[in-house]
Amino acid sequence: MKTVISIVGARPNFVKLAAVSQLLDQQFNHIIVHTGQHYDAKMTDIFFEELDIRKPDINLSVGSGTHAQMTGKILIRTEKVFKKIKPRLVIVYGDTNSALGGAISAAKVNIPIAHIEAGVRSYDRLMPEEVNRVIIDHISTLLLCPSKIAAKNLKKEGIMKNAHFTGDAMYDMFLKIKVDNSLIDKMKLHPKQYYFSTIHRQENTSSIERLNAIFIALNNLDCPVVMPIHPRTEKMIMKLKLKVKNLILIKPVGISDSLALQKFSKFIITDSGGVQKEAYWSKTPCLTFRATTEWPETVELGWNKLVEENFSKTQTIINSNQQPLEHPQIYGNGQSGRKIVEIIRRWISKN
Ligand code: UD1
Repeated sequence: MKTVISIVGARPNFVKLAAVSQLLDQQFNHIIVHTGQHYDAKMTDIFFEELDIRKPDINLSVGSGTHAQMTGKILIRTEKVFKKIKPRLVIVYGDTNSALGGAISAAKVNIPIAHIEAGVRSYDRLMPEEVNRVIIDHISTLLLCPSKIAAKNLKKEGIMKNAHFTGDAMYDMFLKIKVDNSLIDKMKLHPKQYYFSTIHRQENTSSIERLNAIFIALNNLDCPVVMPIHPRTEKMIMKLKLKVKNLILIKPVGISDSLALQKFSKFIITDSGGVQKEAYWSKTPCLTFRATTEWPETVELGWNKLVEENFSKTQTIINSNQQPLEHPQIYGNGQSGRKIVEIIRRWISKN
């Protein structure tokens, strides 16, 4: 059996891995390497349990640090693994530093790379994830695109060979995961009478003014805001002593609680990439507190609106929202995991 290695390290990587992991296990000697980028139990273990992913074979325990420190450690530690195991292919997922480190390191030792979630662009190079996406795509051999727009983006950059529209691995998982209402019941939340929010991106959390303006806006909304809190945002709330009177802050939640909270919320307010798509699939309108998005389809179809600044207008935007009539299947049909693994199998058998 040929050996393939999956590199994962942060929450959004795990969800995509879940869509292909068992299929890869059936076809290959599949080794899962966890970089350790996310290490808190609520940021990592809970996902492996809920998504039924087996334990990683190797954990590189890189932990947190600056982008350079983290990527550097991942490069050095994955290189050792690649040199020892000599896999036929390295698979990286999405746009995290773990995906970047794994991809660069594989490229340096001449191991082909498959990129799951290729071609996605926000065209904002200030986002660390955008830089990661561009670099990974340009050094990957197999490019597995979640949307037609992503495939077109690659074409514009001259990447056509081995680029495939597969649909989104996260959509497979969205369809598969049983939404669990127990947290909603426990929290005594009433459907469509609360907002769901996640705010953690560097662009928002590293600017005191922006973060302040965001929290003022959330505090002034007409319903309470449920916010699973990322460790970095939590640190900033404490440091800046931000007011959270209208917020219900909870520890990071697993995927089924997250999907339940999204499904029953009146509106989703986020700066996450994945949540914008989950909002679309849940048919819950979404406000994205960013200047750009890597999921422009959701904006074009009217389900997602970007709020670049002027956060004080949030309530007015929510009040004037009109639910779009159209809700097409733009991220494949929920079978992208199968398609991805079949493309990988065919490529490996020919090369
Ligand atoms: C990463 C991804 C981002 C994704 C997010 C999901 C990159 C460049 N970005 O961002 O696309 O939306 O994961 O969560 O990889 N921390 C902890 N415990 C943990 C993990 C993080 O305390 O288990 C704290 C640390 O202080 C760390 C900070 O959170 O410095 C940020 O974590 P990091 O892994 O750098 O990136 P994310 O913001 O989580």
